[in-house]
Amino acid sequence: MARLLGIDVGTSGTKAVLIDDTGAVLAQASAEYPISTPRPMWSEQDPEHWWQGVLSCLRQIGATDVDAVGLSGQMHGSVFLDERDRVIRPAILWNDQRTAEECADIDRIVGPERVREITGNPPVTGFQAPKIVWLRKHEPEAFARTRSILLPKDYIRFRLTGEKFTEVSDASGVGLFDVARRRWSQEMLAALDLDPALFPPAVESFEAPSKTAPGGFLRAGIPVAGGGGDQAAGAVGTGAVSPGVVSASLGTSGVVFSALSAPNRDPEGVAQMFCHANGAWHAMGVVLSCGGALRWYRDTLGAGATYEDLAREASEAEPGAGGVTFLPYLTGERCPYNDPFATAAFAGLTLAHSRREMSRAVFEGISFALLDCMGLLRRLGAEADEVRVTGGGAKSAFWLGLLADLFGKPCVTLEHDEGPAYGAAILGGVSVGVWPTVQAACAEVVRLRGRVEPSGTEYSRAYERYRALYAEAAPWMHRR
Ligand code: XUL
Repeated sequence: MARLLGIDVGTSGTKAVLIDDTGAVLAQASAEYPISTPRPMWSEQDPEHWWQGVLSCLRQIGATDVDAVGLSGQMHGSVFLDERDRVIRPAILWNDQRTAEECADIDRIVGPERVREITGNPPVTGFQAPKIVWLRKHEPEAFARTRSILLPKDYIRFRLTGEKFTEVSDASGVGLFDVARRRWSQEMLAALDLDPALFPPAVESFEAPSKTAPGGFLRAGIPVAGGGGDQAAGAVGTGAVSPGVVSASLGTSGVVFSALSAPNRDPEGVAQMFCHANGAWHAMGVVLSCGGALRWYRDTLGAGATYEDLAREASEAEPGAGGVTFLPYLTGERCPYNDPFATAAFAGLTLAHSRREMSRAVFEGISFALLDCMGLLRRLGAEADEVRVTGGGAKSAFWLGLLADLFGKPCVTLEHDEGPAYGAAILGGVSVGVWPTVQAACAEVVRLRGRVEPSGTEYSRAYERYRALYAEAAPWMHRR
């Protein structure tokens, strides 16, 4: 019986899952760490916290000998290392919004059409490339000392194996990767005057380019698979590895995801197109504050309420939240508005409203943002009979029902909803031949569990209000 360990270096914590070759979960562990916002619009973490999180998970799981390890993690973060591989400054994360100017610089230098042709996406504030350009401009001494730049899970790979590699799904989120050809774009690197040696070689997600090093918690010599960015690895865990399967993940960020068999990018450049972990590609719409907005609401206005309390309250208010609208753009937005300056808002409040309506408006606002993303994928032709919903939010029957009504499709949950760590473990298994392909692995281990049908409740007026609020408030949000 194979034993496969998946590790996901998330934004709120690290999670590890040990599975066998039937997909059964043998053990799992998690460890939390903080996120720091030293200035408005900034979002940083100390990579040492990730490493301590991984060690804590490994100790909790206790297994020192497994057949393969697969890695997954929050995407786009930048870890800058010096010539002795020491971390130079805190990692800048995916939801950091400091780089609007640098995105404009990249468009100007490379040409907007060419950037999109090569990388499959517009320059996005959260991606790594504008962060590197930012570092060169704003912290030139730190940039001068930088010898390598790693993504979060690839930093953990480095700590586990002593070797620097990335893989195609996470590399796609750097903004310097030729997504159709699945390799670093020499053209992008040259145009931005970046040394290719700063970036690690990129393998496929199901290949194992390195092995665990001696002296660590895990036995030396265990193959460590490329793994995947959390969205691609998460999609492996939900079986969204062939066109026709659409998934929605409700984590700190919210993502609607569909596999593609060819690198077909959104002609309007709004949906994101990345290499998938199965050797093909995927499209996705990303909402930067999904569970993150709910957590913010609970922590600021929740007065001690739990998520369950808030969902119950929300279910007691009428659909459309009595005319209250919530925009969830607490950390700017990525899709469908690539707008770092977007902010969150409650609108439409009157004395007649209580927290019930506000809670409902928060759930509805986040879900409308996901519906926007579903619209982007539908425009690309992604359609499915049902939507596979994963992540913390999938535990809420209220939220599942709301999404089923908005998507107009049944929402199904999965038997194993351990998230990206589960998909990473599967990728580890494929890398050592437990399964011949990612698709074959998913066909064997991914099983559906719950199912919520649409109720027919109408949200079109509330959704229209939501769309109009951003359109009308955006000029105000952009005032400087
Ligand atoms: C995906 C994205 C987020 C992060 C955080 O492009 O930005 O989902 O990976 O989890």
